[in-house]
Amino acid sequence: MAKWLFAQNCDFVTGAVDVEGLPTSDMTEIAFAGRSNVGKSSLLNALPSRKNLARTSNTPGRTQQINFFNLADKLMIVDLPGYGYAKAPKREVEHWKELINLYIKGRQILKRVYLLIDSRHGLKKADLDFMQVLNEAGVSYQIVLTKSDKVHATEVSKRKHNIELALKEQPAAYPEAIITSAVKKHGMDELRIAIANLLN
Ligand code: GTP
Ligand code: MG
Repeated sequence: MAKWLFAQNCDFVTGAVDVEGLPTSDMTEIAFAGRSNVGKSSLLNALPSRKNLARTSNTPGRTQQINFFNLADKLMIVDLPGYGYAKAPKREVEHWKELINLYIKGRQILKRVYLLIDSRHGLKKADLDFMQVLNEAGVSYQIVLTKSDKVHATEVSKRKHNIELALKEQPAAYPEAIITSAVKKHGMDELRIAIANLLN
């Protein structure tokens, strides 16, 4: 299923900058969330296995809207803007935080959030705050460690282990994290299978 799914067309649907811009949809939906620069857009781009299809995703860089991608009319994949971007103007940071929170709380069809954490940095306060939003909204989420190519493998597994220990306190968290590198294409099949299983 996963292999078939990610070999299908993945089309850009729309980009929302406010609640009114969120598309109506009855497909299963997943969203990629995390701090700015953690690698959300890169990971999303690396998911479809056919390279020409990856071009339909937006190019990496600071994502300034909530981007929606339709995979095979089966799954809506959502690329969220980053939270906690220290260099952005405060008003801008607040706007995105508010919109992301409204999206999380109000999106009935949202099946799971993939919460991306940089393999080098682990959980930060902004991540814990966002996990609280997910817990309160009752939205299931799974941690994905990104940029594993930047850190020694033993350090990444230690980080994964520590995060999984912390997740025991988090009611909405899936207990296991996935280690990935969008650059080296590590962990992509594991992530594809996890996502495809949501459609069963
Ligand atoms: P915002 O949209 O600003 O929130 O950022 P983002 O989370 O979408 O991150 P993006 O995918 O734009 O990647 C940020 C930077 O990290 C880019 O320079 C990417 O090339 C780099 N990057 C992303 N994934 C990886 C990875 O797996 N390995 C390495 N080495 N670099 C990565
Ligand atoms: Mg992005």
